[in-house]
Amino acid sequence: MNVPSVLRPLASMATTSMPPSTAVRSFTTSVSHAKEIKNITVFGAGLMGAGIAQVLAHKGKYNVTLSDVTDKALSNGQTIISKSLSRIARKSMADSGAEEQEAFVKSIVDSIKVTTDPVEAVEQTDLVIEAIIENVAIKKDLFGFLDTKAPDHAIFASNTSSLSITDVAEATKRKDRFGGFHAFNPVPQMKLVEVIRTNDTSDETFDSLYEVAKRMGKTPVACVDSPGFIVNRLLVPYMFEAIRLVERGEASIQDVDTAMKLGAGYPMGPFELADLVGLDTLSHIAKGWRETRVKTGEISAEAVKESSLLEERVKEGRLGKKSGAKGGFYEYPAGK
Ligand code: 3HC
Repeated sequence: MNVPSVLRPLASMATTSMPPSTAVRSFTTSVSHAKEIKNITVFGAGLMGAGIAQVLAHKGKYNVTLSDVTDKALSNGQTIISKSLSRIARKSMADSGAEEQEAFVKSIVDSIKVTTDPVEAVEQTDLVIEAIIENVAIKKDLFGFLDTKAPDHAIFASNTSSLSITDVAEATKRKDRFGGFHAFNPVPQMKLVEVIRTNDTSDETFDSLYEVAKRMGKTPVACVDSPGFIVNRLLVPYMFEAIRLVERGEASIQDVDTAMKLGAGYPMGPFELADLVGLDTLSHIAKGWRETRVKTGEISAEAVKESSLLEERVKEGRLGKKSGAKGGFYEYPAGK
């Protein structure tokens, strides 16, 4: 099998379980080029951005700045972080009193600096991780602007789930210091980070992102810049096929989920997963791929064919777990 040159063997990857027939050839002889990262800025205080900021501060012990365009978005991000840390505290500090648990939560929330000023956010940054809306033009605007404001040495990374990192990096003059850093929802719980390199990503950038993922307590995997990288390349067509199966009247939503949980051992069925990911996100990824990746032959048209069952729900604002009682494929009454 031909190994893409961007999947260069790396010393720090030796601990992963990649089979020798893939990217692993001579891990033991490679040297990590990671540079020291102390200050990390996360753009986007939604579920992903807040989750990444939380784990960077809590597990990675980095100096973290969280930035978004409004105070409301930042305060929403802080709420997401507080709720998640409270959950962690209840489990890991079960023997401590409520006051100690609250102090733990507060210490981490307070350690994350928040600002709506993007210039201030990147003044002293070593690494920017972007987790804003999945729109290539908006991401390019942000990175193009930050490129002129952030220190020259700073690395830029996008948490995009489906867009081309190469395309987004075009907005900057630091393509060698640009890569993908793709975490998974819920970030505090999911152990994976996909580290993505383009043809321009330097070894130093790639290794640095890899080390950050490890310091967060995650297991990094390497992937070249390709649609959906590893996980979404497999998960998105899987969720679409599940939806089509129900559209064809072959089984119910509940039975498909039960089948995949009990028959395949998945923690969630495809409809529960779609509700977690967000039906708007799923629809958006598929639309983007239909527009850009089908004509290049990277994704088959059939795999991401528009689904009326999905689109109707998106139109009704039934976007999944985040829509609460309205739900997506399922409903989520308050407190559930
Ligand atoms: N913060 C902190 N901890 C959390 C958490 C959060 N937001 N969400 C869950 N957890 C922890 C719980 O505290 C619990 O911890 P424990 O093991 O110490 O007891 C553990 O996760 C399990 O949670 P629950 O007991 O509440 O619920 P489940 O056992 O049903 O697990 C789940 C929930 C972790 C979400 C599990 O169902 C799962 O792994 N589902 C699959 C999720 C998945 O596939 N995510 C990837 C989606 S694709 C993606 O994100 C890519 C994007 O680009 C679209």
